[in-house]
Amino acid sequence: MRSLLLAITLLARTSTAQSNREPPSTGLHSLFVSTGKLYFGTATETNNFDDATYQNILSNPLEFGQQTPENSQKWGLIQPNPGGFTFNASDQVASLSESYGHVLRCHTLTWHSQLPPFVSSTAWTPDTLRQLITTHITSVISHFSSSCYAWDVVNEALNENGTFRNSVFFDVLGEEYISLSFKVASEVAPPETKLYYNDFNLETAPAKQTAAVDLVKSLQARGVRIDGVGLQAHFTVGQTPSVESLITTLRRFTDLGVDVAWTELDVSHEDVENASELAVEQQAKDYVAAVRACVEVDRCVGVTVWQFTDKYSWVPGTFPGKGGACLWTEDYQRKPAYWAVKGFLEGWVARKNATETLVGGNGTTVRTVAGGRGALTGVISGSERLMGSLINVQLVSFGVLLVLNMM
Ligand SMILES: *[C@@H]1O[C@H](CO)[C@@H](O)[C@H](O)[C@H]1NC(C)=O
Ligand SMILES: *[C@@H]1O[C@H](CO)[C@@H](O)[C@H](O)[C@H]1NC(C)=O
Ligand SMILES: *[C@@H]1O[C@H](CO)[C@@H](O)[C@H](O)[C@H]1NC(C)=O
Ligand SMILES: *[C@@H]1O[C@H](CO)[C@@H](O)[C@H](O)[C@H]1NC(C)=O
Ligand SMILES: *[C@@H]1O[C@H](CO)[C@@H](O)[C@H](O)[C@H]1NC(C)=O
Repeated sequence: MRSLLLAITLLARTSTAQSNREPPSTGLHSLFVSTGKLYFGTATETNNFDDATYQNILSNPLEFGQQTPENSQKWGLIQPNPGGFTFNASDQVASLSESYGHVLRCHTLTWHSQLPPFVSSTAWTPDTLRQLITTHITSVISHFSSSCYAWDVVNEALNENGTFRNSVFFDVLGEEYISLSFKVASEVAPPETKLYYNDFNLETAPAKQTAAVDLVKSLQARGVRIDGVGLQAHFTVGQTPSVESLITTLRRFTDLGVDVAWTELDVSHEDVENASELAVEQQAKDYVAAVRACVEVDRCVGVTVWQFTDKYSWVPGTFPGKGGACLWTEDYQRKPAYWAVKGFLEGWVARKNATETLVGGNGTTVRTVAGGRGALTGVISGSERLMGSLINVQLVSFGVLLVLNMM
């Protein structure tokens, strides 16, 4: 048994050592896939196309496996004038994504914001607005057809207090606009395309979260197809919910039989000019909490960061003073948050491999004794779930050491 333990310890140590060598043999996407997920991805846009350093990272199949067009599929850019569809920019993102072999999440169809003036200012009747929504969704989904793994069909329909947000759509049609959007999408989209409701602060605003749960239930009760809920996960350093809270949130949705994903993850410093060493460490913990929550929830399919470099982050432009929200700096240095996420995933994968190796042999019972860090309790229960509680393997400090005790 002793030699077996040693082998596992070495396995874990080796994987950690590899992460510090160039060129690395793993990255965020490859490790995330090894945990059983579909993708680790990022928002991107055509204004990033000429940036060679950026493209070098984006095209690295170890780091990224998914893209979301940050803006070019939004209504104002894709149908700026009645019936005048401009697919040029979003087509470029879609073909880049395809050429990199990435999954494409498509974003977004019915949303109150970034609308062209003709939509916001026309005095719609219920009938003309239904027609407008139907034509928009039909045209856009048909154009991209099977290139979209998922569509954010309706975006940000709720207020923080759980009421429906006022918008041109809600004001004319009431909540009917939501079921109409999903109904049209389900009739036009290829059957394998996942249809999502997407919103922010579902992780932090309890009334909004409950309203989103009710929204999914109400669509399901009416027989309207909804396949997933996208939680945007725009977090602030130190105010990110705990991993336990994030898992509970995700499970409220997956319990309804839908997929979930973090669709726009970033973790902003409140005051980026003065971000302390402590804040940098906290940002790393916050990123790990989000990624780990997805790993621990079976139907969480993937994580999309809302740009991977501060150079193109939306945060400072929208919230002056905030920023530093991404995994890479403006000049493409990997931040402590990047290394923490990578280290967490390496540890998870090493533990999964070691557990599978042991259980794959014979039915030896192994039990954990060492009182590790409290934060790792979930890791242990994860391995129990995975392996039918034959074995517990405890991993201390992100893959550096495995502590086992045989019974
Ligand atoms: C797409 O076409 C529009 C309208 O002609 C133009 O304004 C825009 O710059 C084009 N975008 C790209 C990325 O080519
Ligand atoms: C809920 O929030 C919205 C948006 O802030 C506000 O307009 C509305 O009055 C609030 N409703 C209630 C019942 O508090
Ligand atoms: C935060 O940064 C600003 C600008 O660099 C500086 O003027 C201010 O004194 C700093 N505040 C603290 C509390 O360090
Ligand atoms: C885990 O197992 C996979 C598949 O056998 C292998 O490719 C990968 O290198 C292993 N990773 C670690 C960290 O042990
Ligand atoms: C189970 O596996 C261990 C470790 O490989 C080995 O020492 C032991 O003899 C095996 N027991 C049986 C019953 O095969």
